[in-house]
Amino acid sequence: QAATDYQAESAALDRAAVESDHAGFTGTGFVDYDNVAGSRVDYTVTADRAGPHALTFRYANGTDVDRPLSVTVDGGQATPAAFPGTGAWTTWREVTVTATLKAGRNRIRAAATTANGGPNADRLTV
Ligand code: GCU
Ligand code: CA
Repeated sequence: QAATDYQAESAALDRAAVESDHAGFTGTGFVDYDNVAGSRVDYTVTADRAGPHALTFRYANGTDVDRPLSVTVDGGQATPAAFPGTGAWTTWREVTVTATLKAGRNRIRAAATTANGGPNADRLTV
């Protein structure tokens, strides 16, 4: 299956806002997580088959402190993912985690686990 991009600015947001003030994003902007634990982005993705899939998050973190996210699929088991500093808010990198999806629609929740909130989020590729 060809990979599909899901833009963060099109996802469901809780304690997070769409911004466009740091260049280099794809689509029309990126999501700035509020700097609180629990701020989150819910992506609705469609998988062609059940089983493990690579989830690739494109992000920027202009600090030198990790901004970890907890990744859950449909409220299931959480997979922790590290989003270390990228050197600047305009420097975007990708982090890939593997998660088990079901065929059809899945809700991928990427929630901040520290008081720093999440990294700036550009997109999820599945
Ligand atoms: C700055 C930056 C934001 C970022 C924030 C943060 O305000 O402009 O894009 O989200 O820092 O530390 O989370
Ligand atoms: Ca932020």
